[in-house]
Amino acid sequence: WSWNGEAMTPKVIVDCDPGHDDAIAIMLAGRLTEVLGITTVSGNAPLNLTTENALIVTELLNLDVAVHAGADRPLLVAPRHAAEAHGQTGLDGPVRPEITLEVASNDAVAFIIETVRNNDDVWLVPIGPLTNIALAVRQAPDIVDRVAGVSIMGGSAGAGNVTATAEFNLWADPHAASIVFDAGFKKLLMAGLNLTHQFGIDEQLISDLRALRNRAGTFAADLFDFYLASYQKRTHGQRAPLHDPCAILAVTHPGLFRFESRNVRVETEGTHTRGMTVVDERGWGEGPLNCEVEYSIDRDQGMRILLETVSAYT
Ligand code: BDR
Ligand code: CA
Repeated sequence: WSWNGEAMTPKVIVDCDPGHDDAIAIMLAGRLTEVLGITTVSGNAPLNLTTENALIVTELLNLDVAVHAGADRPLLVAPRHAAEAHGQTGLDGPVRPEITLEVASNDAVAFIIETVRNNDDVWLVPIGPLTNIALAVRQAPDIVDRVAGVSIMGGSAGAGNVTATAEFNLWADPHAASIVFDAGFKKLLMAGLNLTHQFGIDEQLISDLRALRNRAGTFAADLFDFYLASYQKRTHGQRAPLHDPCAILAVTHPGLFRFESRNVRVETEGTHTRGMTVVDERGWGEGPLNCEVEYSIDRDQGMRILLETVSAYT
């Protein structure tokens, strides 16, 4: 998909579970979009921590954005977190700052519904498990046609991470994910692992961020020191995939990506495939082309935009 040509700042709700890469996605959204609100969900860490982490990032960046806490567990399956990637707090690494900000509400789902009903062309950007979005769709099906689109980080047109076939956000709440993929959104963009593994961070990026010598750059570098080390230890990979920012860039800079329209369904019950995105790549399948799957990204340009955006925080 692409913009019609007109210059505009998209309005977004960032639905997240910070999370190192969620924190960086919030940084991008704070400068590249009009953030109508941040909603939190149980995911990388329990809800109380992902919410506190969202408040930490918001306060550190001095963003004038309300944080609404959402679902504290998946729809049907037991909550599971990702301490192996993000530490016990969900945001291990930097010194944890004291904060004064508090949540605006504990009803993220009501906030999403109300905001979409009261604003035209809102983008939903879910970068954690899809529980809040599924609940909003179930409670208020009218929001499906109201939103400009949904830009998800999750799934994969290829290998998984938490299992051989499933990516964490979809695996953590497969029933919610299935509701969202089947909802009939006019634009559903998917930044899956096949894409985000092309957008990896390395020591060079960390030193470039540190060299910015602003608070946001130092915080991002401290986050990445932990995130890169934990990724390299677990996977023996070199660059650590910067998943969640891809879902923001897909809205603000679609020209960086190659999209293909696909039928995508979510496996909810499979013995070995729970949470897998079944991407129909045959080209002659029967299902609707419900998803714009991202297949490639211009990494160098994307990283330049990231650095420029973080440097814009004074
Ligand atoms: C996704 O899972 C989380 O650990 C990250 O924040 C990202 O949203 C990647 O699988
Ligand atoms: Ca996330």
